[in-house]
Amino acid sequence: MGETVRVMKANDQLEPTVFVIFGGAGDLTWRKLVPALFDLSQDRSMPADFSVIAVDRIDLSDEKLRRRLHDGVNQFSRFGKTKAAAWNEFARHIHYQKGDFKKLETYRALGKQCAKLEKEWGAKVHRIFYMATPPSMFGEIPKYLGKAGLARDREWARIVVEKPIGYDLASALALNGILAANFEESQIFRIDHYLGKETVQNILAFRFANPLFEPIWNRRYVECVTITAVEAVGVEHRGGYYDHAGALRDMVQNHLMQLLCLVAMEPMVSFEADEIRNKKVDVLHAVRPIHRDEVHQCVVRGQYGPGWVDGKKVPGYREEDDVAPDSQTETFVALRLFLDNWRWQGVPFYLRTGKRLTRQASEISIQFRGVPHQAFPAESTLDWQSSRLVMSIQPDEGIVQCFQAKYPGAKMHLRSVEMQFNYQTAFAVQSPDAYETLLWDVMKNDATLFMRADQVEAAWQLLMPVLEVWAEAPPSDFPNYAAGTWGPEDAQSLLAQGHSWPLPTELVSRRRKKGKTSEP
Ligand code: BG6
Repeated sequence: MGETVRVMKANDQLEPTVFVIFGGAGDLTWRKLVPALFDLSQDRSMPADFSVIAVDRIDLSDEKLRRRLHDGVNQFSRFGKTKAAAWNEFARHIHYQKGDFKKLETYRALGKQCAKLEKEWGAKVHRIFYMATPPSMFGEIPKYLGKAGLARDREWARIVVEKPIGYDLASALALNGILAANFEESQIFRIDHYLGKETVQNILAFRFANPLFEPIWNRRYVECVTITAVEAVGVEHRGGYYDHAGALRDMVQNHLMQLLCLVAMEPMVSFEADEIRNKKVDVLHAVRPIHRDEVHQCVVRGQYGPGWVDGKKVPGYREEDDVAPDSQTETFVALRLFLDNWRWQGVPFYLRTGKRLTRQASEISIQFRGVPHQAFPAESTLDWQSSRLVMSIQPDEGIVQCFQAKYPGAKMHLRSVEMQFNYQTAFAVQSPDAYETLLWDVMKNDATLFMRADQVEAAWQLLMPVLEVWAEAPPSDFPNYAAGTWGPEDAQSLLAQGHSWPLPTELVSRRRKKGKTSEP
């Protein structure tokens, strides 16, 4: 950012807004929400009149809260350490309100505070209620907001719900029921932060803004699709939550399903939120149901044992804090799915996610079918690899097309080569954090990147047989992969002949950093 001090410049197009954050003293507020709001303010993307009211149960003064949040912003803002002037200008908008989430008086006080701000600003305010609390509160807060009359105004009141949206289909239906009893669906913003990632949004741009790819995006040309979202980190400080959730609930039901929808959906007719969400839900409806007796053939689970990651010895999952020493929770899942529709009939979609794998990588790999007739002499195709298109979501951000080319020399020798598009080098601007994008959309009342009730329920419905069968037949071989590997060997059993789990792609910039090149 150079030496210029950025002091907030408001966006005059935005109407006055109050962010009420339940769980305002918590980790999400500190690590994600306030840094994102601060970054928006630095990009002139906050209204002139806005207020952040952090609500929580502990004793805290405005000053103490601001100091704590300042620390979070210094660590997580994409602008780096804040300049005093910029922070002070932003911080004066933050207030703390102590309150019990299960007492009506908390909500009455919030109502009064909003009314006071409306008077002060001389305008109606948008009220955004953000549930950054433990999930046990998700079913409570909307009821109280309803009772206090704070949900009533369909245009001006919104509620933001963090994942997990339910623990299974029944609890998701119950939660959606409570939300629907107090808010209209158009007021409900269910967050899946993956949808806020630039590279995830780019899937739509890539597929539907370029006429080149759509004609081959189907069963005639695509051999299989692999969706990978793996991490090198373990459960970190979230053992308590994770041990009750597991990878299927934590990553597959939401993030991986969203990626599946984006890669497999039909072209949208317009950019309206519901048009896009309808197309996505169609994908989930097309997924061939996993019958209970097929679960073991279609889904593989795993749990990490001790191992080495990045040259460091790391403990096994069962030795992590707040994890049961005999835990049966899965930290790895791989699935094979099929979509029963015209576009994708017969094309396997392989999905995998896991913690403590070799390295972090989220990507979608489209493997194309081979040529109909292989005319080259056998010796020229020894290094032949299938043509692939990889959409790399993180940590590398870009798109890679792998195809065959002739290796220089007198002989006809074919090698796989790559064309790469790299976000950083192509645009030379920093991508906003997913939460920035999503909070901006909530302010603008644009629900395109948020999950609708039916989508969440369809995803649960699909996975319920897996959860049920797993609960009835606990794994006997956990831990079944060492930290720092690519997961349990059983994951191979999901793949059809000739398919493989691709090694996540590294963009050239990363290879250079590591001192690797693409030369033979
Ligand atoms: C969260 C999961 O939703 O996504 C975490 O609860 C996971 O377990 C995280 O680590 C991954 O997201 P990102 O953006 O860090 O890749």
